[in-house]
Amino acid sequence: MVNFYLLIVVALPLSQAIQLFLTNDDGWDDINIRTFFTYMARYDHELMLCSPKISHEISRLMPPRQAPEERPVLKREWNPNSDPRRVQKHREQWHAGFDASDIRLNNVPFDPLRAVRECTANLSSVLYKDCRPNGVNCGSPRLVLGGPKVGNSLGYEQGRDRVLNAFRRSPDSIVPASIAFAGYNDRFAPHRELSSKIYGELASWITQHVIMSGYPNGPYLPRDSHLHVNFPAVTRERCNRFSDFKFILTTNGDRIRNLRSRSICGSIYLPLDTEVIHRKDGCYVSMSLLSLHDRSRGPTMSDHITLKGKLRSFINCLPRTS
Ligand SMILES: *[C@@H]1O[C@H](CO)[C@@H](O)[C@H](O)[C@H]1NC(C)=O
Repeated sequence: MVNFYLLIVVALPLSQAIQLFLTNDDGWDDINIRTFFTYMARYDHELMLCSPKISHEISRLMPPRQAPEERPVLKREWNPNSDPRRVQKHREQWHAGFDASDIRLNNVPFDPLRAVRECTANLSSVLYKDCRPNGVNCGSPRLVLGGPKVGNSLGYEQGRDRVLNAFRRSPDSIVPASIAFAGYNDRFAPHRELSSKIYGELASWITQHVIMSGYPNGPYLPRDSHLHVNFPAVTRERCNRFSDFKFILTTNGDRIRNLRSRSICGSIYLPLDTEVIHRKDGCYVSMSLLSLHDRSRGPTMSDHITLKGKLRSFINCLPRTS
């Protein structure tokens, strides 16, 4: 599975690149989001990372970033840093913090909601390729990504998830579709380099498949939906290789309308994310489809079947407990 994954990384056609926006609520230099960013930078996507600047102790543990010329990027990668006019324009447009050696990495002194709104408003014309410098009619992100959050975001706790709330409270012109990832290993867990690497691999795998399933014009996800993904604990003993994981469609407990009694994996109900994540008979990634802007509609079972079709190459059924 790992080799197959690497093959996908390399074999992706040049043209399957879209505008992506990454954010979190753990700080712009948290190892989870930086590792995920590095994985996504291997593709040709136009990336903007913008997160609150929260200095956690963990930021000191982050390995030093490699200089741009040493980064394992594909040669064809488009990078706004190589265009001096864009770098200059970035300085004019953005008075909050950023990494001068990679202007795709930005921070805000405030919460994820303002990160989404203010960074996309000020920096789309600089960081997304379609926009000429000084262009006015500039694109917004096609897909907005959160995390991987440090610590899970399961069941009704999701109501307090500030990244999910930021996506929901942003207009659909800025957040047309979104995915948020969350990993069990919190900031006090040992081996964070290991868990960040695994979470980054899993998150980029899912993201790439969502993009490929909708490229070029979308929709990347069923209408007005958000995909909420949780990863289980990663330890030295278990769940520490990409091939250990299985991907399960779940629910956070919200009722899923199923007027035509359609079934997934032989059931008209989906398993609960809280139960799937903690199963000990395997390493299960829970993937719940939630409503994005219109909470009254909510995703239906048909939406889940659409998602399963898009990701059919790797969605699994949860084995029954004996
Ligand atoms: C974003 O642009 C607005 C309008 O030009 C400006 O007032 C604001 O300071 C900018 N935000 C940042 C963080 O630079």
